[in-house]
Amino acid sequence: MANSYTALSRHYDLIMTSGYYDYGAYARALAAELGDHREVLELGVGTGLVCESLLELGGAGLRLTGIDHTESMLSQARDRLGNRVRLVRQDIVEMTTPSVFDAAYSVGGVWYGTQDPEGGALCSHLLEEDDDVRALKNLATAIRPGGPLLLAVQQAHRNYQRPLPGGLVYAQEIRSEGDRFVKDYFVRKEGEVLAHQRCEFRAYPRERADRLLAHCGFRFARATDDGLLRRYVRE
Ligand SMILES: C[S@@+](CC[C@H](N)C(=O)[O-])C[C@H]1O[C@@H](n2cnc3c(N)ncnc32)[C@H](O)[C@@H]1O
Repeated sequence: MANSYTALSRHYDLIMTSGYYDYGAYARALAAELGDHREVLELGVGTGLVCESLLELGGAGLRLTGIDHTESMLSQARDRLGNRVRLVRQDIVEMTTPSVFDAAYSVGGVWYGTQDPEGGALCSHLLEEDDDVRALKNLATAIRPGGPLLLAVQQAHRNYQRPLPGGLVYAQEIRSEGDRFVKDYFVRKEGEVLAHQRCEFRAYPRERADRLLAHCGFRFARATDDGLLRRYVRE
């Protein structure tokens, strides 16, 4: 399975909650953009950290569904969220959900934006454009017309390392190869590698990404003022 998170999943929460993402900020931005939309789909729910933050905000009446293709991430999401969120093991390229959702979002999930100096990019866990088209069309089928698709924007990728609790060290190394890039994630303790995961992503320049999304039924509406989300609308 391409871009499985199995190798990193045991350390995922520690890395993400110690400075990688500000889940509270993303959840507040999502809640503001979701407004009254109730049936909401998370694309690449991982261990459920975004859902948990959204539910903590109150989200009365919010009915969340999360899909992910990595079982070891989903099992942590099940432990975290219990029956508060419907969790489905699903590769988005194969998703055949009928039109039941009012909205969808992805925070570092299947797709995400980056704030690259050259105008920003859309990064995809899917490596072939045909797969992005297929997955986006599956998604367009799953969201009711007029519903928003909210894609989180994060800092541009860079090489760095930083300490984690328990004497661990997280490091990431990025290598660009044309319109793709390879990202190596490492967790080390006293120099020994405890976990290593390699992911490969495809990066689309922003204008090209917006054309691709439009082709699949999602019109770009606006970026949020805080710069955390790009809002598309299912036509
Ligand atoms: C960086 S994690 C983000 C998880 C979560 N949204 C968060 O913010 O912590 C990316 C997730 O996307 C999932 N993913 C990648 N490609 C996918 C695909 N084709 N279909 C479903 N999930 C996918 C991975 O398994 C992984 O759990």
